[in-house]
Amino acid sequence: MSAGGTQLYANLDPATVPAPVQAAVAAAEALSFELCVHPATGRLLQSLGAGVAPGATVAEIGTGTGAGLGWLTSFASPEVSFVSIEIDENRARAARAVFADRPNVSVAHGDAGELYERGPFDLLVFDGGWGTGKTGGQRVEIADVVKPYGSFTIDDFSPMRQWPPEFDGQLDAGRHFWLTHPDVLATEVQVAPDMTVLVGLHVPDRGQTLA
Ligand SMILES: C[S@@+](CC[C@H](N)C(=O)[O-])C[C@H]1O[C@@H](n2cnc3c(N)ncnc32)[C@H](O)[C@@H]1O
Repeated sequence: MSAGGTQLYANLDPATVPAPVQAAVAAAEALSFELCVHPATGRLLQSLGAGVAPGATVAEIGTGTGAGLGWLTSFASPEVSFVSIEIDENRARAARAVFADRPNVSVAHGDAGELYERGPFDLLVFDGGWGTGKTGGQRVEIADVVKPYGSFTIDDFSPMRQWPPEFDGQLDAGRHFWLTHPDVLATEVQVAPDMTVLVGLHVPDRGQTLA
């Protein structure tokens, strides 16, 4: 999530924004949905999507109107399957319309848990709902949702200023959890002055691998 991410697209050269992303942003504006993915995060998603092998499955939690999905799919093989879930019915419908001509992209209307049940995935983009523990709530088991050597992203962190990471003067427990997880190799990518994305790779028994 990016506070006001939708409005950031107004300042971009449209030639640099994939057509489905433009359509998703237009749909967001029509629905007064302000939380489209930050374009700089979108470009990271674009790179990650482009690197996914044919036959793989990419999942996204929190479709919004489909901006992130537009970035993810823009350079991906048509043989990669994309599935995203959105709890808001109007947003899910709008996103479905954006990808109506893309048979390898599907948008479900429902709760994140319904998509987790279909895992594990090759790449999982957490961009809404629950599952990371970032804002509390239940946390998923990495092995249930990401295949071994598959990867995941969690966006919308402030750039890290100290270790261990803090938020509002307290340990940022959600972030710390993934950065120290024994089955995850994780790092963070600062994509904009105010925006950092955590990128993780599911490496079972990472500690033993490094020993
Ligand atoms: C930050 S926005 C997503 C932005 C979108 N990924 C994009 O690229 O523009 C978060 C979205 O998560 C959705 N959401 C919230 N709780 C959810 C849940 N439990 N399951 C699925 N989606 C959820 C919200 O309705 C909202 O549209």
